[in-house]
Amino acid sequence: MASDTPDLTVPATMSAMLLTGHGGIDTLVYRDDVATPRPGPGEVLVRVTATAKNNTDRKAREGLYPVKKGQVASFAMGGEPTLTFPRIQGADIAGRVVAVGDGVDSARLGERGLLDFNLYADERPDINLTPDYYGHGADGGFAEYVAVPSAQFHAVSNPELHDAELAAMGMCSYQTGYHMMTSARVSAGERVLVTGASGGVGTALIQLCRIVGAIPYAVSQPEKASALIALGAEAVIDRGDLASFVPRVLEATNGAPIDAVMDLVGGEMTDLFIDTMIHDMKARATYPRLSIAGASGGNISEILWTRIYLYQVQIFGVSHGTREEAEQLIGWIRSGQLRPVLHATFRLSELHAAERYFVSRGSNFLGKIVIVPDSQWEQHGTPFALIDQEPRS
Ligand SMILES: NC(=O)c1ccc[n+]([C@@H]2O[C@H](COP(=O)([O-])OP(=O)(O)OC[C@H]3O[C@@H](n4cnc5c(N)ncnc54)[C@H](OP(=O)(O)O)[C@@H]3O)[C@@H](O)[C@H]2O)c1
Repeated sequence: MASDTPDLTVPATMSAMLLTGHGGIDTLVYRDDVATPRPGPGEVLVRVTATAKNNTDRKAREGLYPVKKGQVASFAMGGEPTLTFPRIQGADIAGRVVAVGDGVDSARLGERGLLDFNLYADERPDINLTPDYYGHGADGGFAEYVAVPSAQFHAVSNPELHDAELAAMGMCSYQTGYHMMTSARVSAGERVLVTGASGGVGTALIQLCRIVGAIPYAVSQPEKASALIALGAEAVIDRGDLASFVPRVLEATNGAPIDAVMDLVGGEMTDLFIDTMIHDMKARATYPRLSIAGASGGNISEILWTRIYLYQVQIFGVSHGTREEAEQLIGWIRSGQLRPVLHATFRLSELHAAERYFVSRGSNFLGKIVIVPDSQWEQHGTPFALIDQEPRS
């Protein structure tokens, strides 16, 4: 069984997709002469087998994370911008440990695992005040190798999971979704409106609601309804007609108010999301809660302040999550309670095509696109590759 012996050879240079500046996809340049990183003290060197794509990669590339009007910027919550160029993007990394730095047990060589993508500012397990991540403030997984902290590369042996499927359950979506729920103290029996439900975070949220015993109502498009119901949604509400949106949500809940909204959409929909919670305050047992972690529908929402404070709507801004939450999620992956929602794989050298496909995705799109280094493609990419631009199932 020669295949049980891990291949620990590491070349001096590797292929990688370099982000060379803010802008369009032309700022992503594929190179095959990038120096392979070395693991520092406390780090492992991972041979990347699969890295999930996130909307965050595109937004960081385009400089769409302003915190003041008019900025072209990315995260700088620690004070200074941490995205410098060239940078290797890609946050949700699955792979194998091929070298260890000082202080790391060599027993980890050959281990298959998934990265907790955060660049944590400190060791605290329960708070993460300056969210930053591998693929943004440090190099990530759109490459053949990456060096990461050994404590954040979590072993997931589960043989039933392909590496591409493991990457599809990466923390950028799953930890964000879970932190949205823990911030809003979502509990068993509560009705939760999951917006952007067919995306990476939304598909994670539907599953996470079911794990904690909450009831997820998915906001999406009718073509995706059966897949979202199969994933765990109680009902799917078409986001198409805003005028009838609130009555249609209440029809789905038999008139009961939504307890908490997980808002990934923003824009003109957020005010309607609030309506689904406050239309009958006497029917509520808890304060209305709105967790916000994204703005796929627009970065500006016009909401009367009086609606917020008179109805006592509790609002939570959410980015990423904590070490404790990552460990909880890894536990649920290991126990098989979380499922991957993998749309398709693309070769790393074809990242431009993957970006175009992602931006113009059709009404059959659900979950994640995963990028596989060309050298790993036969084993880890082909089982999930598109056929004639269509997913396999
Ligand atoms: N704060 C954080 O830490 C964090 C982390 C990850 C992601 N995010 C953000 O969260 C959002 C979702 O991320 P994601 O990775 O899940 O993205 P995604 O995979 O692109 O999914 C977003 C979903 O939102 C829906 N949508 C798109 N445009 C919309 C619109 N104009 N109005 C209403 N719905 C729309 C689409 O679903 P349907 O077409 O089926 O409705 C789409 O599948 C993004 O804004 C992303 O930047 C934030």
